[in-house]
Amino acid sequence: MKKPFSSPPHAFCTGWPGWELLRSFFSSSMVLRARVFPSIFLNLAYPAVVLCTFLETGGIDLQGRSVIELGAGTGLLGIVAVLLGAHVTITDRKAALTLLELNVQANLPDDLQLRAMVKELTWGQDLVSFSPGGYDFILGADIVYLEETFTDLLQTLDYLCSEQTVILLSCRLRYERDQKFLMMMKGLFSVQEVFYNPDNDVHIFKAQRKVLKRDL
Ligand SMILES: C[S@@+](CC[C@H](N)C(=O)[O-])C[C@H]1O[C@@H](n2cnc3c(N)ncnc32)[C@H](O)[C@@H]1O
Repeated sequence: MKKPFSSPPHAFCTGWPGWELLRSFFSSSMVLRARVFPSIFLNLAYPAVVLCTFLETGGIDLQGRSVIELGAGTGLLGIVAVLLGAHVTITDRKAALTLLELNVQANLPDDLQLRAMVKELTWGQDLVSFSPGGYDFILGADIVYLEETFTDLLQTLDYLCSEQTVILLSCRLRYERDQKFLMMMKGLFSVQEVFYNPDNDVHIFKAQRKVLKRDL
């Protein structure tokens, strides 16, 4: 088994406004541990970096808002959401939780850690331990890529989402099947692309629960 590495993601510094936000909180460099080599991580992390930047610069006010991140991986997105003022439940499968905890502890000062909760969430499983419809925002970076998880992911979004909840997903649409998830989502949610970065081919989609006529 490869040892997790610990390396400041210097490549993020250039052109990522979010880095300035992190730097304003920390005098030292951010440390993110991941279970892949740094070069692979930097490439994989683009959807998360693009969504972090969007949150910081896109006029979305997270101050005091209740947020849940799905498939958090390193936790970068959830950590940035905490820095932007949100209360964030940062989730992933059990196997990812140890690194996730370490990254949250390493990158958030003690007082802000109170606003971050790391919790296991495997899509479609044990959803009752989460508040149904209890979040202002649901965030996910690069979580649409395994077709066998699409039904469970959709069920999870459906469970967590109220009519007011805003879902923000950043993704690369690598394969036709990724489009399939967007089609599935459109059955339950109004989905719109709110950002596209052609340099790294990352899309951000915003979704909200459709209001059915019978509910009006
Ligand atoms: C490509 S990684 C993205 C990680 C992180 N969001 C990022 O952008 O760096 C996909 C993440 O989804 C998680 N994931 C995959 N299948 C899942 C499932 N069925 N339930 C919960 N999380 C899942 C993985 O553990 C992984 O952390």
